[in-house]
Amino acid sequence: AEEREALRERIKALLKAKNAVLVAHYYTDPELQALAEETGGCVSDSLEMARFGRDHPASTLVVAGVKFMGETAKILSPEKTVHMPTLEATCSLDIGCPADEFAAFCDQHPDRTVVVYANTSAAVKARADWVVTSSIALDVVDYLDSEGQKILWAPDKHLGDYVRRETGADVLLWDGACIVHEEFKAQGILDLKKVYPDAAVLVHPESPESVVALADVVGSTTQIINAARDLPNKQMIVATDQGIFYKLQQTVPDKEFLIAPTAGSGATCRSCANCPWMAMNALENLAEVLEHGGNEIVVDPDLGEKAMKPLVRMLDFAA
Ligand code: 13P
Ligand code: SF4
Repeated sequence: AEEREALRERIKALLKAKNAVLVAHYYTDPELQALAEETGGCVSDSLEMARFGRDHPASTLVVAGVKFMGETAKILSPEKTVHMPTLEATCSLDIGCPADEFAAFCDQHPDRTVVVYANTSAAVKARADWVVTSSIALDVVDYLDSEGQKILWAPDKHLGDYVRRETGADVLLWDGACIVHEEFKAQGILDLKKVYPDAAVLVHPESPESVVALADVVGSTTQIINAARDLPNKQMIVATDQGIFYKLQQTVPDKEFLIAPTAGSGATCRSCANCPWMAMNALENLAEVLEHGGNEIVVDPDLGEKAMKPLVRMLDFAA
């Protein structure tokens, strides 16, 4: 414990010395989330991380999360230096949507407005008309639909199909999925509901349709935390990465949170409600990168300029 405290103190001093601010996602280790809060950084969903990073005056951003979050920060603030505790932390949605194949898909459907999820590479964003996160996907597509536009959506088919069902828009889907949320099982939630009949079900929209169908609230990580605070239920079944439990318990200490079951629950599932890439972030590699540099996010300036447009459109729409 003393060692952890020393490490935490060293990181705090380094953040100050380097005029750096820590921007963390709710899925990262609670130690990182706590440190981000204590040091005036931010812990949030991907939309707020993007906005916070862009608006913060620090010259250096350290983004604890996955690669697309660091890239988004750099694209929005090319003049800032952006580091990550690791550059290995990717995302199955990003991996499943290579820029060249995606560009070919777009070329085949020139009549469609291209909307991409934030969980993509800079090159994919550069090809998009709009970037959205889960917290504003519905609102943006609703707006585009009201303008009579047809949508090409990538990469998450579950989120895209949820948006299609809710808005009734004409949405053509790319075939991608999140390996974490795809594991949640409707039957497991129904079984848990038998034990906790009064529990509310909170679901991230990267989950399959059968799981979303059981939800009392569907939303981004921030929206899930707000729902946990606002709903009267004393128990909540939560279908998203278990990293969120730190903030859930801190926000609503008198409620009980239960992780939604996955196929491999209790057994050996590789990514059961725990994103393997988010988990690569730790105090150790954060301290290392602050002390010695490295793991800097570099985005080709031309590509960055193109990718900035749909990102700014998203932030302006959200404002
Ligand atoms: P949020 O924008 O809801 O935080 O989601 C990011 C993510 O990667 C979910 O898996
Ligand atoms: Fe990507 Fe899923 Fe991990 Fe989120 S939880 S970063 S969508 S793999």
